[in-house]
Amino acid sequence: MNPYEQNRTAWNSLADQSSPFAKVATDQECAQPLVQLDSRGWLPGSVKGLKVLCLAAGGGWQSILYAAAGADVTVVDLSPSMLRLDAREAERRGYTLKLVEGSMDDLSMLDAESFDIVHQPVSTCYVPRIEAVFAQVARVLKDRGIYISQHKTPTSLQVVDNDSQHRYLIGVSYYVGDDPLPDVNDIAYREVGTREYLHRWEELVGGLCRAGFVIEDLVEPKRGNPDAKPGNFRHRGMFVAPYVRMKARRIADRGAMNRGTPAIWTPE
Ligand SMILES: C[S@@+](CC[C@H](N)C(=O)[O-])C[C@H]1O[C@@H](n2cnc3c(N)ncnc32)[C@H](O)[C@@H]1O
Repeated sequence: MNPYEQNRTAWNSLADQSSPFAKVATDQECAQPLVQLDSRGWLPGSVKGLKVLCLAAGGGWQSILYAAAGADVTVVDLSPSMLRLDAREAERRGYTLKLVEGSMDDLSMLDAESFDIVHQPVSTCYVPRIEAVFAQVARVLKDRGIYISQHKTPTSLQVVDNDSQHRYLIGVSYYVGDDPLPDVNDIAYREVGTREYLHRWEELVGGLCRAGFVIEDLVEPKRGNPDAKPGNFRHRGMFVAPYVRMKARRIADRGAMNRGTPAIWTPE
């Protein structure tokens, strides 16, 4: 099956089964929306009136929190069922959202330089070419706009199983290229039924820089717990960081910024 169709079907069913990945924002969270969205203080003090794209962020969490904070919100997501949760929650709370069914690697339905912020939860693992996503985000963001994105780490996606001593086994090549990941036994950080792709560090970090962004911060959200038992995702989280989150800023003329900088490293 085409991977996009497979992921749409899988996410429709995760949304319809009330998966924890399709958790809508609560009243308590809406009372302090920016604290929920941004524990690191990466966003401006207020997003009131700012144009925000919640990219691959259906499900009624990010969109509702940004709307609660007064932003003008657009959501692009592949799954109609995830978008229905945004629509339902927005209607219930009296917010207006623009909801668009589409893929993160083709944002041609959106105007260039039209957003102040793009916020993308873990989702680039569902497309084969992350550089296509970064190019699209760079196009729709205004100059100096902020791109907050979270991704699965390559190492986490290379884990296939654990052995009798509860050690985690790397079984997928780092250089799988555009091939989808195989089905594996260890699915602690995989979503059932989806088709996923590994993006190397060079693609994640270098790709962002090459698309015209400056990375302002990078964190590894911790999921590990030293008391967790083997078999629990928090046990695995003590050995392999599952996610990386980056704050990047679109700089329209990065060429000018770099001019005069001596080359210290030459790619092969
Ligand atoms: C982990 S969920 C993120 C949403 C959720 N609100 C959250 O906070 O975790 C990943 C989302 O990516 C979407 N998705 C998968 N492939 C996509 C694609 N090619 N383009 C846009 N969205 C996609 C899924 O439908 C799903 O809503």
